[in-house]
Amino acid sequence: MTREDFIFKRVKLVSGVSSWESPSNIALIKYWGKYDEQLPKNPSISFTLSQCKTITIIKYRPKKENENQNFSFLFDGLTMQSFNDKINLFINRISQYIPAVKSHFFDIESHNTFPHSSGIASSASAMSSLALCFMEIEKQIDSKISETYFFKKASFLARLGSGSASRSIEGPLVYWGKSKAYKNSSLLYGTVLKDISPIFNSYRDTILIIDDSEKKVSSSLGHELMKSNPYAENRFIQADKNMDRLRNVLIKGDLKSFIEIVELEALSLHAMMMTSSPSYILMHPNTLFVINEVYEFRKETSIPICYTLDAGANIHLLYPNQYFKKVQLFIIEKLLKYCHSKQFINDRVGPGSKKI
Ligand code: DP6
Repeated sequence: MTREDFIFKRVKLVSGVSSWESPSNIALIKYWGKYDEQLPKNPSISFTLSQCKTITIIKYRPKKENENQNFSFLFDGLTMQSFNDKINLFINRISQYIPAVKSHFFDIESHNTFPHSSGIASSASAMSSLALCFMEIEKQIDSKISETYFFKKASFLARLGSGSASRSIEGPLVYWGKSKAYKNSSLLYGTVLKDISPIFNSYRDTILIIDDSEKKVSSSLGHELMKSNPYAENRFIQADKNMDRLRNVLIKGDLKSFIEIVELEALSLHAMMMTSSPSYILMHPNTLFVINEVYEFRKETSIPICYTLDAGANIHLLYPNQYFKKVQLFIIEKLLKYCHSKQFINDRVGPGSKKI
């Protein structure tokens, strides 16, 4: 499908309430570098999570005459200027695809199921839940749109809010960006990966909160820095190759290669930040202590656990569901001392968003 296929021209005045919850996701192959209107420089793929999610409710009605604002936004009952700016940009961007947006007022309320101050990126869950609510409004104007189109366009719109949000609509694994590994892959929206070993359907992600402060480098700045990073072109080639390798690994359930690729991707993402100008070290000393503990635990027990990182210090531990109890013990005995206020979140792979 092309960009034009997502332009919905019908304008009708409607009112109602729309409410969706949508989870966060954790990338196995990282999206880092973008161009034009939110298009990724390399393909990425992620596990959709289930516990860490955003719940969004939008009450919408025709805009009154002389009403300048077209939305109000409360996060956990509070006004947040930084979020307002992001939503404003998002609404402006999507108005070319749902023109009715311009003639309505939106009363938006969101809250996360995970602590806002946990350092966990929430733009994926926030923007995907918002996109789904707007699709609900489009559906009210044209009830004939198919379910497939509904979710594809929700992913397309979510991308305009935050690239990684395009991968949070469905689950358990979603790829986004043009990749030679997947013929039907698109720069414009995420696609669910169906052909996987069943072991990945119940994978666990335990998130260790190493640092709960605001991100040192916003994703926007990180993506921007890739434009002048001397290793960027090779990084995009590497990501594409890793996608290709991961394809068979996910089909076969080859956990040894899975671990190799996922950890390489995490460190490559951080290498990009270390080699950008200005350069950033986003890991915390405790991040490295945990990584070493994971290597040792894996060697001693042969449990196929691995780590991955976002653009921050926190660690995501990925492992098959059957090892949950053993990994909990490992965390409590060995890793808790490295976690900020002993915080960690047990999450797992899930099917994606839900209408509520
Ligand atoms: C490191 O999706 O947050 O989490 O498109 O500017 O909103 P924007 O960026 P964002 O970048 C996510 C980067 C990442 C890797 C990933 O999720 O693929």
